[in-house]
Amino acid sequence: MKRILQVTTSPRGEASYSNQLGNAIVQELLTAHPGSTTETLDLSQQQYPHLGVPQLVSFFTPPEAKTEEHHAASRHSDDAVASLLAADILVICTPLYNFNIPSSLKAWLDHIVRSGITFRYGATGAEGLVKGKKVYISLASGGIFSEGPYVEYDFVSSYLKAVFGFIGITDITILRVEGTAIPGVQDQALEKAVQRIAV
Ligand SMILES: Cc1cc2nc3c(=O)[nH]c(=O)nc-3n(C[C@H](O)[C@H](O)[C@H](O)COP(=O)(O)O)c2cc1C
Repeated sequence: MKRILQVTTSPRGEASYSNQLGNAIVQELLTAHPGSTTETLDLSQQQYPHLGVPQLVSFFTPPEAKTEEHHAASRHSDDAVASLLAADILVICTPLYNFNIPSSLKAWLDHIVRSGITFRYGATGAEGLVKGKKVYISLASGGIFSEGPYVEYDFVSSYLKAVFGFIGITDITILRVEGTAIPGVQDQALEKAVQRIAV
């Protein structure tokens, strides 16, 4: 039995390729791990604020010195970290926007990468503190980035591996539904991606 956290970002709901592929991944996980529970966080509806001075001050104030104001400022982050830590498996569903992830997903990541909570620096450098979790990335793109002339513009897969790896999550599988804007490719793109799911 696993606790699955599905994070969606596309505002296109059920029409979204990244959401449809993510849903198929979740279904496979539920079959593989009967009795598992799912929680969904839709970042197109529930948005995380850009980090400002109140959040940064709160993040770097020791727990014993925190005031009500500090707690209020880090509430979004504390809730996001609690959901992350409660999950065994993350399914992150994201489109490619302008060669990167949507800013809503970046904002959420800024709230879960927390010094002293999800990573820390020691004598040997950075250490991720989020252990034993698995991440599936469902990545939708209008173009093709896994092969061909745009491979060198695939910043998203390396960024997501880096940021999740930094907090300790190194077991990452990236599944792509790509070419969703390319005639002759788009019709088969989702089906091909679903066929590649292996949990
Ligand atoms: C604002 C915006 C920016 C986009 N930028 C890119 C891009 O840089 N590269 C690309 O291949 N596709 C890009 N696309 C196309 C989307 O990645 C593609 O339509 C994808 O299937 C959307 O995911 P969804 O179906 O989950 O919403 C962009 C789409 C939008 C709306």
